[in-house]
Amino acid sequence: MRNFPEGFKWGVATSSYQIEGGNTNSDWTLWEEKMGYEKAGDACNSYKKYIEDIEILKSLNVNAYRFSIEWSRIEPNEGEWNLEAIEHYKDLIRRLKAEGIEPFVTLFHYTLPLWVSKSKGFENKKNIQYFKRYTEFVVENLGSEVNFWITVNEPTIYATLGYITKIWPPGKKNIFKYFSVIRNLEIAHIQAYKKINELYKKYGWSKPSVSIAQNNTDLVAGDIPSKIYVFVMKYIFNYSFLNKTHNYLDFIGLNVYFYTKVVFDPFAKSNKTGLLFRTVSNDNLRKQDIVNWDINPKSMYNLVTDIHTRYKKDIYITENGLSDTKDKFRYDYIKSNLEYLLKAIDEGAHVKGYFYWSMIDNFEWAEGYKPKFGLSFINSKGKRILKQSGIKYSRIAQNNSL
Ligand code: NOJ
Repeated sequence: MRNFPEGFKWGVATSSYQIEGGNTNSDWTLWEEKMGYEKAGDACNSYKKYIEDIEILKSLNVNAYRFSIEWSRIEPNEGEWNLEAIEHYKDLIRRLKAEGIEPFVTLFHYTLPLWVSKSKGFENKKNIQYFKRYTEFVVENLGSEVNFWITVNEPTIYATLGYITKIWPPGKKNIFKYFSVIRNLEIAHIQAYKKINELYKKYGWSKPSVSIAQNNTDLVAGDIPSKIYVFVMKYIFNYSFLNKTHNYLDFIGLNVYFYTKVVFDPFAKSNKTGLLFRTVSNDNLRKQDIVNWDINPKSMYNLVTDIHTRYKKDIYITENGLSDTKDKFRYDYIKSNLEYLLKAIDEGAHVKGYFYWSMIDNFEWAEGYKPKFGLSFINSKGKRILKQSGIKYSRIAQNNSL
């Protein structure tokens, strides 16, 4: 038995659009229509069945839950506040706390209200003030019960898929726009950080912990020329956002999924990275099913020690998960990732928590419902049921040890 530090947060993560259902007032709904993607529709019906979600959290023995607030519900039109929606989240938080489950609340997890996307979302600097005002409204209402905030989920993934690869809304391919979205999200985070702290002071609440959830790739050079590529790409995708915001991060939220090896190959026909390089798929590594990502549990160690060395801050693994239709490999995946996480902790990294993605099978954006990341699923009668991996994860969480 190997123990995790005392007070370690064991959690699972979700996001509003992926589980709530009925979110038709967001840019993603239009996008699904436009692209002919599978629709999120009722998702896991969690907006209605959140009490059943809490039962699943209890059976998972977790002491933390990361979820997000749907901006398009809270502010369906500019300056119009939906009090019923804020009461909903209030009730969710109240019930979580009554069960001893710490809420980690994300403010922006990819989806924008239509009225914000119509005025060009985070491409448009002017929309930062609206994000700040939305943050203020949410924190005024929920802050007394919340200690942990994530302002922005995966800024670099969001900007890459929406402004380079065209897979997510608004489906543009424009490097200048990519960088302005990143810049505006940095400012949005910093302003939200300041606003949250100001409100906690004003109301005499104890200081909150505020951060972002950053998805870093364990990017590896397969030959000498690709070392340059890896150096530049790591800077752009792994560090630049953190470098700009680290004075306004109380901890670092790290989403860990990707291992990518690259080699120089100007004539590559497939697996091109776009800049004279291609990715090498490693036959020794298994892949996540459906989404097809390489799995390398050691990436957990590499990414955590890298972030620890650079920023010396508390770290929470705000996401780590496996798409595994038959639930055959998930527990091993979790275990080996946690072994590497323990190794990083033993060597001095201040890791305070781990959130598995996800509590339940849900809407995986452009891939629809095919990928199965959940520790639980919904059966044909609409009931939430723990998978074997969920049962085993619950033991780790309960014992605080592997
Ligand atoms: C990261 C994202 O935050 C989440 O929305 C997504 O479902 C998971 N990774 C799995 O791809």
